[in-house]
Amino acid sequence: MQTIEKNTEVKREDVKEFYSKAASTLQPSLCCPTNYQAEDVSHIPVDVLKISYGCGSPVSKASIKEGETVVDLGSGGGIDCFIAAKTTGKNGKIIGIDMTDEMLSQAEKSRIYVEKNLGYSNIEFRKGLLEDIPVDSNSVDVIISNCVINLSILKHKVFEEIYRILKNHGRLVISDIVSDSEVPEEMRSDKKLWGECISGAETQKNLIETAKTTGFYGISIGHDYTWKEVNGFKFSSITFRGWKFTKGKECVYKGQHAIYKGPFLNVSDDDGHIYPVGEPVEICTDTATKLTRPPYAGSFIIIDTSKNGDEIIECGPKCC
Ligand SMILES: C[S@@+](CC[C@H](N)C(=O)[O-])C[C@H]1O[C@@H](n2cnc3c(N)ncnc32)[C@H](O)[C@@H]1O
Repeated sequence: MQTIEKNTEVKREDVKEFYSKAASTLQPSLCCPTNYQAEDVSHIPVDVLKISYGCGSPVSKASIKEGETVVDLGSGGGIDCFIAAKTTGKNGKIIGIDMTDEMLSQAEKSRIYVEKNLGYSNIEFRKGLLEDIPVDSNSVDVIISNCVINLSILKHKVFEEIYRILKNHGRLVISDIVSDSEVPEEMRSDKKLWGECISGAETQKNLIETAKTTGFYGISIGHDYTWKEVNGFKFSSITFRGWKFTKGKECVYKGQHAIYKGPFLNVSDDDGHIYPVGEPVEICTDTATKLTRPPYAGSFIIIDTSKNGDEIIECGPKCC
């Protein structure tokens, strides 16, 4: 146990050292394609773009809505926070979390410029660890993270923390680097490769399994691009999303049925229910709630046979 803690501490210090330099001097080995749209970054100083070390664009894939609370894990120079700040508008709240002082001070400098351009103030940067996030439980609508989780040695702890701070029905949208097979120990102990988002990468299967065992459901994955090959291992960028659901205290069967609309012959959900296309399947109130909301909304017709005239519940503006 003590060895794990020591290793974690050493690795964290190495990563901090790496990113304290990267905050002021561009590290070309870290630059993956991110493809930000010009109109999304027009309110952001160019200095931020120069120290943008993400590997995807979770902020543009998170369907962020007006007024939402967004947390960006490993916010670095702040690029995704600044984009989210524009999307949520003045009623939203953006919290960037990072452990590296130099990154936080760069982000803080740019925040003043960005908020002046936007005409409102809704961004806060907090110093903290992904494994112990300084944010209240059940308080966040959406968590984004761009090329950071691979840098943590305690990935299961990061997912537990994400789950803790998300509200019920909250979502995570994460871009990260994955490897095509498990990275061997001799590569894992290479400081430089770890800092460059290579040797801390998990396989996609392991990363997704960690998210699932933490309790996230409705997980979907997009393969963004193959980034590079190192020592015969292929590293790719993926963006995946998942949802938190807190089971109701009074989950009961009260005559609700779900009819899967297709196009597959049948589908199964995270709780093991199987839905053949077109056939009513009896479901409990918790499952009915899940199926009428993202990511399932629109795929099912929910019929409540306990109501006169078999009420059909489709996802309305409140739940989507
Ligand atoms: C590859 S950079 C990505 C920065 C930013 N997301 C972007 O797209 O430009 C990784 C960032 O995560 C931070 N970081 C790495 N591990 C962390 C941890 N365990 N807790 C908090 N921050 C961490 C680093 O300080 C660095 O700023």
